[in-house]
Amino acid sequence: MKEKYNVKNLNRRNFLYTAGTVAVAGLTPAAISATEGKTLILSISCSPRKGKTTATAVQVALDAAKSVNPQIEVELIDLGGRHIAGYLPPEQGSQTPDDFELILPSLKAPNLGGIIIGTPVYFQNMSSLCAAFLERLAVLCQPQLLLVNKAVGVLSVGAYRNGGQELAIAQIQAAMLCHEVRIVGGKPGAHQGATLWNAFKDDIMQDEFGIDTAKKLGVRMAEAVI
Ligand SMILES: Cc1cc2nc3c(=O)[nH]c(=O)nc-3n(C[C@H](O)[C@H](O)[C@H](O)COP(=O)(O)O)c2cc1C
Repeated sequence: MKEKYNVKNLNRRNFLYTAGTVAVAGLTPAAISATEGKTLILSISCSPRKGKTTATAVQVALDAAKSVNPQIEVELIDLGGRHIAGYLPPEQGSQTPDDFELILPSLKAPNLGGIIIGTPVYFQNMSSLCAAFLERLAVLCQPQLLLVNKAVGVLSVGAYRNGGQELAIAQIQAAMLCHEVRIVGGKPGAHQGATLWNAFKDDIMQDEFGIDTAKKLGVRMAEAVI
């Protein structure tokens, strides 16, 4: 189980994406999904620590979503090690390309059904990387709303059992409502989204309750997009 969710063991598509092979072939993962006629659930892990607890938890949610229906395709984008600048006005360099450009094709995928956003809890709120990512989503609501009616679920991981996970989730949900998305929670015990507790030295799979909430979020997302 632990091995499965070692984020080094990305599925083949994510591996190819990471390795740049897909880009060489001229197809983004989202483009491949579209050709397969599947509905895409995209997940963004917003921890600067690549492959750690947030990334593992969103992979658990994605796997749960995928198990609901074979027509669901999943993709994890780990922002760890990536550079995403927050919003800057044009005169201060907003045109400078950064890693957000790599994410845009998946966010604009015609078969995108929903997005799971995962964040670590930083001082009872989302990470600055997550805030920067959300600010950059402005290009998807102006001049045209491109995420309208997409399902959005949120997951957060904190070092304390009650470290602000629900507060961070609520902030992200509030931001995403500006896109006129459909906010999705989980099943009982996870109605607000997935809340995880990193109490086991980064082995998040040991947080049985939290992992259960991640699975419940994934299942609800699957139900919402199919
Ligand atoms: C700057 C900073 C602030 C943090 N603030 C909180 C907090 O308010 N509440 C909490 O439960 N954990 C807090 N943590 C702990 C992280 O949320 C926790 O370690 C989480 O698992 C990190 O996610 P990652 O493993 O994906 O990087 C903080 C960590 C950092 C670095």
